Amino acid sequence: MDIHSASRPDQARVRHLDLSLDVRFDRRILEGSCTLYFDRIFSDELILDTRELTIHSVDHAGGFELGAADPILGTPLKIRVAPGTDRVRVNYSTSPGASGLQWLDPPQTAGKRHPFLYTQSQAIHARSWIPLQDTPGVRVTYTAEIRTPPGLKAVMGADMQNGHFRMDQPIPSYLIALAAGDLAFQPLGPRSGVYAEPSVVDAAAHEFADTEAMISTVEEMYGPYRWGRYDLLVLPPSFPFGGMENPRLTFATPTVLAGDRSLVSLVAHELAHSWSGNLVTNATWSDFWLNEGFTVYVERRVLERVYGREREEMEAVLGRRELDREMAGLPESDCVLHIDLAGRDPDAGCTLVPYEKGALLLRTLERAAGRQRFDAFLRAYFDHFAFRSISTEDFLDYIRRELPTSVDLDEWIFRSGVPPGAAEPHSDAFTRVEAGWPADTRAWSTHEWLHFLRSQKDPDMPRLEREFHFSESGNSEILHQWLLMAVQRNYEPALPRVEQFLCSVGRRKFLKPIYSELIKTPEGQARACGIYAKARPGYHPIAQATIDGIVLESRA
Ligand code: BES
Ligand code: ZN
Repeated sequence: MDIHSASRPDQARVRHLDLSLDVRFDRRILEGSCTLYFDRIFSDELILDTRELTIHSVDHAGGFELGAADPILGTPLKIRVAPGTDRVRVNYSTSPGASGLQWLDPPQTAGKRHPFLYTQSQAIHARSWIPLQDTPGVRVTYTAEIRTPPGLKAVMGADMQNGHFRMDQPIPSYLIALAAGDLAFQPLGPRSGVYAEPSVVDAAAHEFADTEAMISTVEEMYGPYRWGRYDLLVLPPSFPFGGMENPRLTFATPTVLAGDRSLVSLVAHELAHSWSGNLVTNATWSDFWLNEGFTVYVERRVLERVYGREREEMEAVLGRRELDREMAGLPESDCVLHIDLAGRDPDAGCTLVPYEKGALLLRTLERAAGRQRFDAFLRAYFDHFAFRSISTEDFLDYIRRELPTSVDLDEWIFRSGVPPGAAEPHSDAFTRVEAGWPADTRAWSTHEWLHFLRSQKDPDMPRLEREFHFSESGNSEILHQWLLMAVQRNYEPALPRVEQFLCSVGRRKFLKPIYSELIKTPEGQARACGIYAKARPGYHPIAQATIDGIVLESRA
C-alpha cells in the first residue's frame, strides 16, 4: 500500500496509457484525453489520482465522481466500470497552476523568442497533468500524440518517431515526462545526444562529451543499458532540480554547464538511475533511499572509473560533509533511511539522508563483502528485480539471502544517524587544501575550491574576494557556496550578486539554503521578501512551495 495514492491497484491495475494532448501555450493548459487499459482483479470501480484537473467526460464508463480534495494528495477520480470493460477514456484539461508543469514565457528562455513547457512528475505530480494511478508501485507502458504550435518541438522520455511517442517498457508514473519548446539536437555518441535551445546546445554537447564513456562503464559493472537511447535535455534555468532521470531522456539544469565538465557527476547520477530507480524502482516514497542511495553509490563508481580515484574521493567527502551538516538540522526521525511519511508530502523525505547515508551503507557493504562479491551481488540484484517496484523489506530479504555480512542493516535502515563502523571516505587532496592559505591554486578543481570555502572557520571575505574573485565565478556550485557565505557573514559587497543569482536561477538546492540563511536576521528577512517578490513568478511551482514555506512563514 502506498499512502500517497488514492488508487487501489489491488482491485484494478492500469497497464497501459494512450495519451492525446494539445499543448495550449495561450491558456497554459494541456487538453485532450488519456485512455487507460487495466486488469480487473475485482471491484466495479477504477480509482485514479488527479490534482486540479478538469474532467470533461469519461467514455466507456458507467459514470464518474470526484472525491474530496486533499491538500497533499489531490482529488480521487472514481470511475464506475461495467463488467467486461478493460478500458476507459478520460477527457480532461489541466489547470494553469498544475504542480507538475512549468509554463515559461519567452523572456525566461535562453532564446527569448518562444515559450517553453516542461513536466516534472516526481514525486506525486504526474496526477496534475494525467489522471492515473500515481504510485511507483504501478508500472505502465504508454503511447502519446502531442500537438504543439508550429515551430515548437515536443520531446518525451520515450521512443520518439516523427511526432509519435511510445514507451514499451513498463515504467512508474513519476517517470512520465514531456517538454516542448524551441529545441535543437546534437549527437554525443551512437546512442546518446543532447537537446537544448539552439543557443545552448553546443555548450551542452561539449560539457556532456563523456556520456558514452559513462554508459559503457555502468554496463561493464552492472549489465546492459536496457532503454535503447540515452539523451539529455537541458532545460531553462528555472528547472527546480539538478537533474531528473526520465527514461531515455534525462532532464538537466543548465547550471551544470560550467565549461570544464566539473559538474557532470549529475550525468553519472541520472544515468545510474537507468539501473537503480528506473529498472528497480522504490515501491513507495518511504523506500526512496533504494532509488537514491543506490544511485549515488553507482554514480561514484562511474566517476572513479571515468575520472579516477581522486575525483571520486573528493566528491564522496563533499557528500559526506554535507550529510552531517544537513542531519544536524533535521529531527532524528528524518535521519533514518526508511522514513515515515504519514500525513506528509513525499518531498519532505527528499533530504541528503536517502542519498548520502544510503550510498554510505552500500560503501560499507562493499567493504564488508569485498568489491568483487559486492559487484556481482548488485548486478544480480538489478537483474532479479528488473522492471519491478520493490520495498525496503524486499531488499532486506534479498540481501540477507544473497549476501550475508556482519553489517547491522536494521540499524542502518531504521535507526537515526550514521552508525559507527561506516566506510568513511577520505581525500588526500582535501587534506592538502586544509593546510592553510594556499600558495598555488592554479591546478585546483571545482571540488577543491568548494572544500576550501567550506573549511574556512572564520572566512576573511574581503581577502577571499580580492584574491579569488568568487563573485565572478562561472561555476554555479562555487558561486552558490560563496554567496551563501556572503549572506551568513552579511558581506555587503556580494549582496547585489545574491539578488541577481536568486532572480536568475530556480534550482531548489541553491535557493533553499540562501533564503533560509537570509531570514535569520530582520534586515535579511526584509531583503529576502523583496527579492522573493521579484523572483517568485519565475520559479517552478515546486520551488515556489518550498520557498513560500521559508520566506512567507517567516513573516507570519
Ligand atoms: N530523482 C531525483 C530528483 C528528484 C527527487 C525529484 C525527488 C523529485 C523528487 C534526481 O535523480 C536527483 O537526485 N537529482 C539531484 C542531482 C543529483 C546529482 C544528486 C538534484 O536534483 O539535485
Ligand atoms: Zn537521483
